[in-house]
Amino acid sequence: MLDWATDMRLTNFCRFALPVFLLLPCFGVKALDAQTAAAPHLEKRGAATQLIVDGKPFLMLAAELHNSSSSSLEYMKPEWPKLAAIPLNTVLTPISWELVEPAEGKFDFALIDGLLAQAREQHLHVVFLWLASWKNGMSSYAPVWVRRDTKRFPRVIENGNPVNILSTLAPATVDADARAFAAVMQHLREVDGKDHTVLMMQVENEVGVLGDTRDHSDAANKAFDAAVPTELLSYLKAHRDALDPELRALWLANGEKTTGTWTQVFGDTSRADEIFMAWNYGRYVQAVAAKGKAAYPLPMYVNTWLASEDTAPGDYPSGGPQPRVIDIWKAAGTALDIYGPDIYLPNFTWWANRYHRPDNPLFVPETAGGAVGAANVFYAVGEHAALGFSPFGIDSWNDKDNILGKSYSVIASLAPQLLEAQSKGEVHGFLLNKAHPAVDFSMNGYVVHVSLDEIFGRGTDEGFGLVMATGPEEFLGAGKGFRVSFSTRSPNQRVGIGTIDEGRFEDGKWIAGRRLNGDESDQGSYWRFDQREVKVEKASVYRFE
Ligand code: DGJ
Repeated sequence: MLDWATDMRLTNFCRFALPVFLLLPCFGVKALDAQTAAAPHLEKRGAATQLIVDGKPFLMLAAELHNSSSSSLEYMKPEWPKLAAIPLNTVLTPISWELVEPAEGKFDFALIDGLLAQAREQHLHVVFLWLASWKNGMSSYAPVWVRRDTKRFPRVIENGNPVNILSTLAPATVDADARAFAAVMQHLREVDGKDHTVLMMQVENEVGVLGDTRDHSDAANKAFDAAVPTELLSYLKAHRDALDPELRALWLANGEKTTGTWTQVFGDTSRADEIFMAWNYGRYVQAVAAKGKAAYPLPMYVNTWLASEDTAPGDYPSGGPQPRVIDIWKAAGTALDIYGPDIYLPNFTWWANRYHRPDNPLFVPETAGGAVGAANVFYAVGEHAALGFSPFGIDSWNDKDNILGKSYSVIASLAPQLLEAQSKGEVHGFLLNKAHPAVDFSMNGYVVHVSLDEIFGRGTDEGFGLVMATGPEEFLGAGKGFRVSFSTRSPNQRVGIGTIDEGRFEDGKWIAGRRLNGDESDQGSYWRFDQREVKVEKASVYRFE
């Protein structure tokens, strides 16, 4: 950091004093600033918030590596071509505090540089996961010099004993983590500020206290018995009507107080403990992200170990950004752009709905791959304008028919149309099964009826896909196992299916295949996507009385 006076002296020196050949370094600084301005960033475009890379919206068809894979370039070397062949366009790649700063103040970026070189060779982007103070609640990725010094870097106390979880209430720990993260971001700015191989950063991993509802260290007990910080209460007041309904209900049920201790404001249950931890993890992780962003402002997110039904805080990491405490994290700072769900629980649509908010675009950093992921990705990008989708542990997924890859290939081929439809709000995605066999939605002046495919009395049990409007009387769809019919809100008007073509996009150009009619459209009654394979089809419609 330059102090103000030095900064001014340098600026004046550059502006007035130097002969032209000496001005080059000043232009160098300007050029780096321009690169940073054009770095991958989030932008609200119409109805959707999108990731903009090199001036264009980008959809991350991604997957995450196993935790230890990217700690060895030799291990990774044969993996990258396989990942590119799936085809992924982005790989979620762990990097760790223990390997970046093995001794205090001694940074080693060789592994990061090697990973970038390997990814670039395969024309892949990466999202780096900063595994630092916490990973799955625990602190196993903090360097040993941090873990051994429990005086300087105190632990969470549970039942009177320190556990392998760094306490959030320790200024030295947040400073050390933030300093290391800022060094990483500064390095990325220098080595990737022009190439934009790195699209986003995940800060920490599935944080929260495991094994107890909250930290019981002396510092934590003192903070818990003190008044709830006014910043948090002012935020709740200012955002009262937009708060997550669960949080709002809890606050209101306890008298909508704007002063008081944690138990006075949020009630004397484990929910108050969870909110207290959310505030403290929020403060900490926002501070780390802010330091990193000051060096290189890539989009930053956190991921969440989701709480399954009937579990209490501490069974899952207490204080992690569950939907009901996202507002607490937002009150704690503004450096984090996205709160993402790791969706391993069965109800994918429910969780996607909980995390997609006007102030939180959906990004699914971890989830199932294979056939389940191949279906869910259509719902995420179609119904929730997801920025990306990323099954976990891709380097060992047993997907021998590459079912996920087939979905990704199709979505990649129509990504330009899809991204435009997301911003216009003219796309819907769906997952159909026997329990939820049909869905209706309005689009482009039509009511679109989607249901499980069926012909001659024989039906399918599952279907998935997306449908978007591409013209006044034209729709584009992709997926399998569903059929579509159309109507309008006007009682006298009917909608006929004009034409259906299967086809594909090659370099953005539509190449039509078969004209689908007869049985393939149930004699003109439905726009059908049979259950055999994921396909792309175009349909035109017409109105009549
Ligand atoms: C969620 C974590 O975030 C990942 O790093 C990994 O541990 C998976 N769980 C394993 O299922």
